[in-house]
Amino acid sequence: MEIRKSVLPVSRPHSGPEEIQAISEVLDSGWWGKGPKVEEFEKSFAKMVGAKHAIAVTSASAGQDLVFKALGMTGVDIASPTISFMTTAVVPLWNNCTSNIVDVDPVSLNIDPNDLRKSLKPNTNAVIAVNNAGVLAPIDEIRSYFDGFILEDCAHSCYTPGAGARGDAAVWSFQAVKTMPTGDGGMITTNDSSLYEKILPLTWLGISSTYSRTQGKNSNSVGNRPGYTWDYQIDVLGYKAYMIDLTAALGLVQMKKLPAALSWRRHIQERYNSELSSEVQRPAHSETVQYYGARVSPSLRDELISYLGEKLIHTSVHYKPLHLHPVVKQNRTFPVADKEWLRLISLPCHGAMTEEDISYVIYWVNEFFSK
Ligand SMILES: Cc1ncc(COP(=O)(O)O)c(C=O)c1O
Repeated sequence: MEIRKSVLPVSRPHSGPEEIQAISEVLDSGWWGKGPKVEEFEKSFAKMVGAKHAIAVTSASAGQDLVFKALGMTGVDIASPTISFMTTAVVPLWNNCTSNIVDVDPVSLNIDPNDLRKSLKPNTNAVIAVNNAGVLAPIDEIRSYFDGFILEDCAHSCYTPGAGARGDAAVWSFQAVKTMPTGDGGMITTNDSSLYEKILPLTWLGISSTYSRTQGKNSNSVGNRPGYTWDYQIDVLGYKAYMIDLTAALGLVQMKKLPAALSWRRHIQERYNSELSSEVQRPAHSETVQYYGARVSPSLRDELISYLGEKLIHTSVHYKPLHLHPVVKQNRTFPVADKEWLRLISLPCHGAMTEEDISYVIYWVNEFFSK
């Protein structure tokens, strides 16, 4: 097969005229900051995932940080899996907590509930359970022996049925290569109204939204005046992490396209599953296919990455275990993750891929193994 002319990225966002139209409308409206589009996005998103409350933020990282800040969780231990993005390991450190990194299940690569149980310390007050690559983490099993706070990391599981429903709160990511990308952005969802009330003011320095004050909704304005109220009173130490209408407008369009986007990702998964060489171990089935994390022999993995690179096919590894990064080094061993990550290779999977692109990847992977 002839080598293609341009690179096939491992992941990338995909948009059309609908996104341009939505952004133009917000530009023309004169309200670019947090306003009606954010409100609409929060309501629609909460409905989609079956949550009582949703708070749109600048990223999932900021969202996880605000959840722990709202809970006042500091000086304790927070557990999370070693196969994950760095966010889950460092958010505890941002809150002066210890980051207790746990080994993973060899099949799903999600946090291993048995290893978690052994790793719990008397002051482990929270667990961050990542739905790795869209596969649901074993939260019910964790709940059978752990009664602390469970933050469900849904960065890869938008939308896997059931995601976000089992944690005390869930955080979602709309970063540029996620299933519902807005460039950057995130959502916090919870059914806990008191937690919701605590998180909301933290997103903007403890100030009530300017837009709500133009609408006569003066949650923390001074006095109860009709119409626009410029004044507000700040009672809590807040941060700056709210989403703006330009981002929410993209989110609303991407949300409408989500079912089609996911069905295309599942099609890619199905073709890889049925057509790739038997030398390639298939990943656990995912409803979102945030990554197609295949596994191959560790002695061939890096050679395959270089070989595909020469054919202009970009690949990645999700993830190098977090405990291997000096910033969160742990004083223990991780037998499963240390063995499995050396076999991982993520093949291209995204909405901009064509049927020919999928065939191209399959052809060159199989060609590599036929040698
Ligand atoms: C598992 C996981 N959690 C959290 C995040 C952080 O998301 P964001 O980039 O929106 O901060 C990511 C991002 O890739 C992720 O993969």
